Amino acid sequence: MNLTFKTLDDVDVVGKRVLLRVDMNCSIDPQTKQITDATRIESTRETLEELSRSKVVLMAHQGRPDSDDFTSLEQHTEILRELGFNASFVDDIFGEKAKRAISQVSDGEILVLQNVRYFEGELKNAPAQEVAQEQIVQELYPLFDIFVNDAFGAAHRSQASLVGFTTVLPSVAGRLVEKEIRTLTSATATDQHPWTLVLGGSKVEDKVKILEKLLLTGRVDYALLGGLIGTLFLISDGKVPENYSKPIKGYESSVTIARDLLRKHSDVILLPEDAAVERNGERFDCDFDEMQNNPFLDIGPKTIKNYVKIIKNSAVVFANGPMGYFEKEPFAKGTSDVLEAIAECKGITVVGGGHMGAMAQKMNLEDRITHISTGGGATINFLTGKKLDLIVALEDAAKRM
Ligand code: 3PG
Repeated sequence: MNLTFKTLDDVDVVGKRVLLRVDMNCSIDPQTKQITDATRIESTRETLEELSRSKVVLMAHQGRPDSDDFTSLEQHTEILRELGFNASFVDDIFGEKAKRAISQVSDGEILVLQNVRYFEGELKNAPAQEVAQEQIVQELYPLFDIFVNDAFGAAHRSQASLVGFTTVLPSVAGRLVEKEIRTLTSATATDQHPWTLVLGGSKVEDKVKILEKLLLTGRVDYALLGGLIGTLFLISDGKVPENYSKPIKGYESSVTIARDLLRKHSDVILLPEDAAVERNGERFDCDFDEMQNNPFLDIGPKTIKNYVKIIKNSAVVFANGPMGYFEKEPFAKGTSDVLEAIAECKGITVVGGGHMGAMAQKMNLEDRITHISTGGGATINFLTGKKLDLIVALEDAAKRM
């Protein structure tokens, strides 16, 4: 497959000052603030190894300002060290402290900058030329020879650290971006059916919009919903009362879209038929009218049975986002049964997103799933056929190089 952007094969990185953007946005325990799964940090390995004779400065984000997982990158740096990399951390992004530390980086060293989303200008999504004017780009780019973007998980974002540098520095994709694009391109180059989407987890506002786009392609035969997005649709359909919307960020703006989608695609969208809630500290499977206002923590047994049957008989399955509160063992059942069915499916299977990918790995399913993608939102966006912002930016950079 011919790539439309440049990669590490096209540049000489030895002895160069390399600015590297990765996605090591990890699952964080909301109480302890500790990383619970380091898969995304491990996924930077191949690119970092190829840059082992460069002066590497690494940028990444963790969480969003309004989320529980919005933390410093200090512990990510510690994990990089445990993985064998010569990494150090500076609690600054582009100020004097960061610039001094950057000037001291030697070949073979990696300097991790602070969470780029601590800088407000990073939160803006706009065309590359526009975000290139942000201070983070203007202050940092003169200090580097090459920009390497390996942040596949954030490839659908058009933010300064992701696309701004591509307008001012020679820019190439890292090995993870390259591998994801190659694998997803071949996995989607099929017109086999039934084509099943399994969609769960949070980030409901993003997911409902992307589901809308994906359903418009006409590609999806079944959209099996769970997690908080499943709850949103259950409320929209009048199956559970509106007070279940409490944990759903962006509920107001999402519910109208969800209602519209249910009206237009009732034959494609499948909702949970029952739930699991917590009662006396244990899992309790029940129908919706028995939930007694307890939060929806997992899909129930009838739903699992139906979803498993559809998944096993599908020609293509893309899954993103857990079916329930999988961090608590009794409520991981929906997600693990769905993953087991995906592993048993004989068709093309892709599991994406930090949480589901990590669980598939924990269950040792890697060899039985076509591809475990590090992208959640990025992978689903890829499926809509629209080019990812990160790729567009790298293509433009390639034309200028
Ligand atoms: C992800 O986890 O999907 C990526 O890191 C992007 O994060 P975001 O949805 O907060 O932009």
